[in-house]
Amino acid sequence: MNVEVALIPAAGRGTRMRPATNAIPKALLTVVDRPGIQWVVEEAARAGVTEVVVVVDPDGGDIIYRHFEESLYLPSVADVKVRTIVQAEAKGLGHAVLTGQEEIGLRPFFVLLADDLIRPSDDILTGLARAAHPDRSAVYVRKVSDRLLGAKGVVETGEWVSPSVMNISGAVEKPGHLAAPSNYAIHGRYLFTPEVFDYLAGLSPGYGGEVQLTDAIAELGAAGRCRAYLAEVDLFDVGNPLGFLQANTVLGLDDPNYRTGYQAIIDEIRG
Ligand code: UTP
Repeated sequence: MNVEVALIPAAGRGTRMRPATNAIPKALLTVVDRPGIQWVVEEAARAGVTEVVVVVDPDGGDIIYRHFEESLYLPSVADVKVRTIVQAEAKGLGHAVLTGQEEIGLRPFFVLLADDLIRPSDDILTGLARAAHPDRSAVYVRKVSDRLLGAKGVVETGEWVSPSVMNISGAVEKPGHLAAPSNYAIHGRYLFTPEVFDYLAGLSPGYGGEVQLTDAIAELGAAGRCRAYLAEVDLFDVGNPLGFLQANTVLGLDDPNYRTGYQAIIDEIRG
């Protein structure tokens, strides 16, 4: 499936990253040497995306837009047109995606959570596009321990289509291990057909009083319209302080520009 547009929800409150996010949007916090959201736009660009719609909060829009205007000369994002749209109120991830309906139109689109970064040598989006082929939605899943089933959306499994792709028949947001329908948890990367907007538009607030993307995935699954793509690619969650430190360390040591010098600093600190 050829996917030319991606949506990046970046309008969350970022409360876990306070005080860093008091005045600066979370998506602009620097990871190694560039804002977190730039890592995500670069990932989309590597998968052939040429248009990115970033969902921002009312205060963050201008500054994120300006970042990408100034980055026009950067080869890594030069071929991507980045636009911002405002989610007036943080009503949940599902609501943030629905906010992009007009810009996305009738095209299939990736959703990449701005909090979740991957190594530049890794790729999830190509696998998602293959899993969704020819016309379904697909979500990235990983098999997780029981402990994490209270922190993620979890899919209800259907039959396997290949060793890394299965149909799903439902999904539940943060069920906890007693209620979880499986150990396959959804992780920050999605490919949707525009039909997801119909399901999102009909949703009432769910878990935590927010409009949940997982609830729309549940309905897509129940309608036989969604697959899960299973891979072993790590995502680094920069939305909390420890994850942020981990991402800086992993991606810093991964970067050919900083690897040697950074390793020397770590060795020195550890004595
Ligand atoms: P999170 O719930 O992890 O982010 O949403 P948050 O709300 O910013 O974090 P805390 O809990 O207050 O620290 C996952 C992703 O969805 C986006 C967030 O920006 C994040 O990238 N999001 C969430 C929105 O764009 N809008 C929302 O209403 C909620």
